[in-house]
Amino acid sequence: MEFNELIRERFSCRSLSDRDIPHEALDRIFEAARLAPTAVNKQPFKIWAVESPEARTKLAETTSYTFGAGVFLVVGGKNEDAWVRQYDGRNFADVDAAIVATHIMLAIHNEGLRSTWVGHFDAPKLKETFPQMADYDLIAIFPIGYPTEKGIPSPRHPQRKAAVEIVEVL
Ligand SMILES: Cc1cc2nc3c(=O)[nH]c(=O)nc-3n(C[C@H](O)[C@H](O)[C@H](O)COP(=O)(O)O)c2cc1C
Repeated sequence: MEFNELIRERFSCRSLSDRDIPHEALDRIFEAARLAPTAVNKQPFKIWAVESPEARTKLAETTSYTFGAGVFLVVGGKNEDAWVRQYDGRNFADVDAAIVATHIMLAIHNEGLRSTWVGHFDAPKLKETFPQMADYDLIAIFPIGYPTEKGIPSPRHPQRKAAVEIVEVL
C-alpha cells in the first residue's frame, strides 16, 4: 500500500476475529520490525509472538484489551543493550522499541490485518508469567486479527491537532 494511504487509513481496531493469520503475513511483519532503525544500530529489542491457546489465556489475565485476537505480539526494549547519550545519561531502549512497534503497527495494517497498540497491561504480571520477558521494558502488546463488522474507528480517531499547534518554525 502507498505510504500516505496507509497512514491515513490506519486506525485502532478494537474488534477482531480469531480467524487464522497466514504465517507469511506474520513473517513480513517481523521483517518490518527487523528493518527498523535503532540508536547506533544496537537493536536492543525483542518481540514475542503469543500464539498458543494456553499462552493467549495467560496474556489475557494481564489486560482486558484483547479484542478477540488470535495472535498477540509483545514488544520490549532492553536498557542494558541500548545506546546511552553521554551528555545526560539518557537510555534510548524505549525510543528504539517504540520505533520497532510503529513499524509493526503499520506493517499489520499493510497486510490487511488490524490491531491496536495496547499499553494498558500489567507488565510485572506479564513478566512473571513469561520469564523470557523479565529483562525487558515492555512497551506494547499488539492483538492481531482480521476486523469484524464492529471494528471501526473510534470517535477519538479523527481528533488530531492542527499542524500549527504541533509544528513551530524557528
Ligand atoms: C503508546 C500507546 C498506547 C496505547 N494503549 C492503548 C490501550 O491500552 N488500549 C486501547 O484501547 N488503545 C490504546 N492505544 C490506542 C490509542 O488510544 C489510539 O492510537 C488513539 O486514540 C488514536 O486513535 P487511532 O489509533 O484510531 O488513530 C494506545 C496507543 C499508543 C500509541
